[in-house]
Amino acid sequence: MTAHRIIVAPSLLACDFGRLAEEVRQVEAAGADWLHVDVMDGHFVPNLTIGPAVVEAIRRSSRVPLDVHLMLDRPQEFLTPFLDAGAHYLTVHVEAEGLRTESVLRKALEAIRGAGAKAGLSLRPRTSAEALQPFLDAVDLVLVMTVEPGFGGQAFMPEAMPKVRKLREAFAGDLAVDGGINALTGRACREAGANVLVAGTSIFRAPSYQDAIRSLRG
Ligand code: DX5
Ligand code: ZN
Repeated sequence: MTAHRIIVAPSLLACDFGRLAEEVRQVEAAGADWLHVDVMDGHFVPNLTIGPAVVEAIRRSSRVPLDVHLMLDRPQEFLTPFLDAGAHYLTVHVEAEGLRTESVLRKALEAIRGAGAKAGLSLRPRTSAEALQPFLDAVDLVLVMTVEPGFGGQAFMPEAMPKVRKLREAFAGDLAVDGGINALTGRACREAGANVLVAGTSIFRAPSYQDAIRSLRG
């Protein structure tokens, strides 16, 4: 397996939304490779966050790729608005209620790629790697949740590491981890084969964004 470049994707969920454009500029200047944007619908997860209008605003103040993580029950209804808003990576969950049928999920992934964006597929901590197997040819990014999705600031679940290892063997694209990622847990993830580290709290609550981002690269 070829070595993958380590990509650090700060999760804006942990930033100061009252100073969104400034936070975007500061974290980019500190070395962010991508910006991770968490979209929640209050159904797939018990929390609500932002929609396409805010993603579009983030896009206008950013230069690096936007990695948009859709935690929605019916993501297929919102692909076009988020793609139009400027998502470069658009990730849906394999457990999403509206995507239970294999052909519907495949169609959603094809629609993302068809629009010129990168397609991502994510899974909850309790979902096995096998659930992704039929779709690995149709995705550019796999996002392994290392906490139960819904909120920032939760504790990393080390039990996700065997799944990261298994997916690295089966998948040559970008392999991301999301939830509780800091210098220590990030290292475990890199060793298991992850190359994209999504981190909210450990970057935005750190005294120096630059030091926090650098420490994630190892
Ligand atoms: C959780 C989100 C994460 C979250 C990570 O559902 O998908 O992206 O922002 O936050 P931390 O790094 O604080 O665990
Ligand atoms: Zn996320």
